Amino acid sequence: MEIVTTVTELREKIKNWKREEERIGFVPTMGYLHEGHLSLVREAKKRSAKTVVSIFVNPKQFGPAEDYQIYPRDFKRDADLLEKEGVDLIFCPSVEEMYPAGYKTYVQVEDLENKLCGHSRPGHFRGVCTVVLKLFNLIQPDEAYFGWKDAQQVIILKKMVGDLNLPVKIRPMPLIREKDGLALSSRNIYLNSQERQAALVLYRSLELAEKQIKDGEKQAAKIKQSMIDLISAEPLARIDYVEIVDVQTLDSLEKIDGDALIALAVYFGRTRLIDNLRFISGVIEK
Ligand SMILES: Nc1ncnc2c1ncn2[C@@H]1O[C@H](COP(=O)(O)OP(=O)(O)OP(=O)(O)O)[C@@H](O)[C@H]1O
Ligand SMILES: [Mg+2]
Repeated sequence: MEIVTTVTELREKIKNWKREEERIGFVPTMGYLHEGHLSLVREAKKRSAKTVVSIFVNPKQFGPAEDYQIYPRDFKRDADLLEKEGVDLIFCPSVEEMYPAGYKTYVQVEDLENKLCGHSRPGHFRGVCTVVLKLFNLIQPDEAYFGWKDAQQVIILKKMVGDLNLPVKIRPMPLIREKDGLALSSRNIYLNSQERQAALVLYRSLELAEKQIKDGEKQAAKIKQSMIDLISAEPLARIDYVEIVDVQTLDSLEKIDGDALIALAVYFGRTRLIDNLRFISGVIEK
C-alpha cells in the first residue's frame, strides 16, 4: 500500500495506472475509520483493479463554530485498517496541499445545498462539493463510493456529477449500524454513556416511521409529528430537524405516495448526529 501526501506524486501514480487501463475505485473519507467506511472500501475492492482511499479532514466543510480542530484523527490506526483491506493507495494531503495560499475556487449545487443539513450548516456542502471535485480531478476514479448515512451528500454529489458531466459513477452504499441501531459515525466518539444510550431514540423514531408507512399512513405531517414526539420525550435530545422530503429536490412532501427521504439531525449535548430512512420504489431502507 502506498501512502501519498502530494499532488505531484499522486498524479504520477494515477498516470501509470491510467496507462495500464486499470479501473480505479475511490472512497473519500475524513479518517477515524469505522465499519461504515470499510464497507465502502470492500465494495470498491470488489469492483475495481485499484482502490484509492483519501483521508482528509476538509476544513472547508466545517463552520467556524464547528469541531474542525477537535475532529478525531488517528492516521496510524486508519492506515493499518486499510492495509488489511488491501487498499492500493492512501491519499492524505495537508491542508496547504489542497488549498494553497490564494485558493479561490468553489463548487455549489444551488438550492439542494441550503436544505436539511445545509440549513444549519451554511457552506457545508459547498465545502464537500469543492473537495470531492478536486479529489475526482486528481484521482480520476471510474467509480466513487459514498454511504447513505449522509443521504443529502449522496443526492447533491450525484447532481454535481450529472450537471458537470463528470466521468465518474457515484455508488451509494447501505447505511451501517451498530447492533442496537445507532448509525456508525466517527463523531459517535464524542458521546458520553448517557448520550450514547439516548441516541438510540433516532433509530427508534425511524422504526416508528417505517411502521406507519407499512400500515398505510401517507400524511407526512402525521409521521413527522410522531417522530418529533418520540425524540422530544428523550431529555438529552435536542432536535435540529426532522423532515420528509422528495429524494431529488429535497422539498418537503405533504403526502408519501412515491419515493421519499425521511431525514433527521439531533443534538446530544454538543454532538450533532444525523440519520435517515429512504422509501424508494416501495422498499424501505434504513
Ligand atoms: N454508518 C455508515 N454507513 C455507511 N457509510 C458511512 C457510514 N458512516 C460514514 N459513511 C460514509 O463514509 C464516507 C466518509 O464519511 P466520513 O469520513 O465523514 O465519516 P463519518 O462517520 O460520516 O464521520 P462524521 O459523522 O464525523 O462526518 C461517506 O461517504 C459517509 O457517508
Ligand atoms: Mg461524515
